Amino acid sequence: MPALMKFLHLAAAIVWLGGISFMLFALRPAAQAQLAPPQRLPLIAAVLTKFFRLVWVSIGLLLATGMAMLLAVGMKNAPTGWHLMLGMGLLMFALFGHLYFGPYRRLRQAVAASDWPEGGRRVGQIATLAGINLALGAAAIAAVVFIG
Ligand code: HEM
Repeated sequence: MPALMKFLHLAAAIVWLGGISFMLFALRPAAQAQLAPPQRLPLIAAVLTKFFRLVWVSIGLLLATGMAMLLAVGMKNAPTGWHLMLGMGLLMFALFGHLYFGPYRRLRQAVAASDWPEGGRRVGQIATLAGINLALGAAAIAAVVFIG
């Protein structure tokens, strides 16, 4: 059971952080180089709609499996790195909620209204917040691996 928890936890982290890396470092620069805003922004919005469904599932899995592993040893006995991971994980969930109900919702509205400058601004905000979450995710993993 603990191995299954850790496996699901790792799988969810890979899906989330791998997806952010792909969006930021592969899809976005390639789309920016090859497509004009009226083609690019609807594509980015559609890709995000599909990816964000996976992120919600990942968040549910990370929270459930992470808390199960943490509570199995008890909050008082848990190593410092695990507490740090909980804190950074909660911050990541909050940032994603903000990104989803703020800039992402506005991006979809901008695309529906063919407002490309506004859509471009919103994609920029989403990229910034996603980049912060990538760094926080890396820091959370480093906390467990290096501090324990
Ligand atoms: C509610 C938030 C979270 C809690 C309570 C939590 C809890 C834990 C715990 C207790 C472990 C240690 C398991 C062990 O060593 O036996 C762990 C490992 C891990 N967590 Fe989290 N976690 C959370 C969020 C996250 C997030 C947001 C990510 C990355 C997106 C993440 C990625 C990982 C990874 C990759 C490991 C494996 C590290 C290793 O031992 O090699 N966790 N987590």
